[in-house]
Amino acid sequence: MRSIELLMNDHRVIEKALQLLENSVIKLQQGKNVDRKVFETLITFFKLFADRCHHGKEESAFFPTLERLGIPKEGGPIGVMLYEHDMGRRYIKNLEDSIEKFYSGDASALQDIVENAYGYINLLRNHIFKEDNILFQLATQVLDYDTDRELVEEFERIEEERIGHGKHEELIRSINDLESILIR
Ligand SMILES: [Fe+2]
Ligand SMILES: [Fe+2]
Repeated sequence: MRSIELLMNDHRVIEKALQLLENSVIKLQQGKNVDRKVFETLITFFKLFADRCHHGKEESAFFPTLERLGIPKEGGPIGVMLYEHDMGRRYIKNLEDSIEKFYSGDASALQDIVENAYGYINLLRNHIFKEDNILFQLATQVLDYDTDRELVEEFERIEEERIGHGKHEELIRSINDLESILIR
């Protein structure tokens, strides 16, 4: 199913960004310098690509379609996924605030950076694992060819509307560029 493949492709980029966030927080913990721009790039990516666009596709198109096809929301995997999207939003908001404080000279904000970054990293890694291995496997059993095609079109509309034309690719590039700078 193409819709599932597209969501899984997004997951691979999100995982790459999570790894870069983890590496950067470890550097801060070791007392090393990390350019503020690194965190700004990552937070922009998580807000726009992971949340607004990817979670947007799941919440506005993919999950409602699965519900229509009989996968329950309350008390089922979809309810859990929605709850975790909300938790992720809170972690990112707090992470952004603590980064702002830290780079304005408040060294004590490092602890909040560490807690929120690891909270987010662990949450999202587990979340992605559950989607890839449980929810998407259920979805392959209920999705048919036509519904899958409609979803793919809906995903494209959501990308255009929520983040703008070409932005999806631009954000993927920002992570690949960051990776080549940081892993050098
Ligand atoms: Fe999700
Ligand atoms: Fe997802």
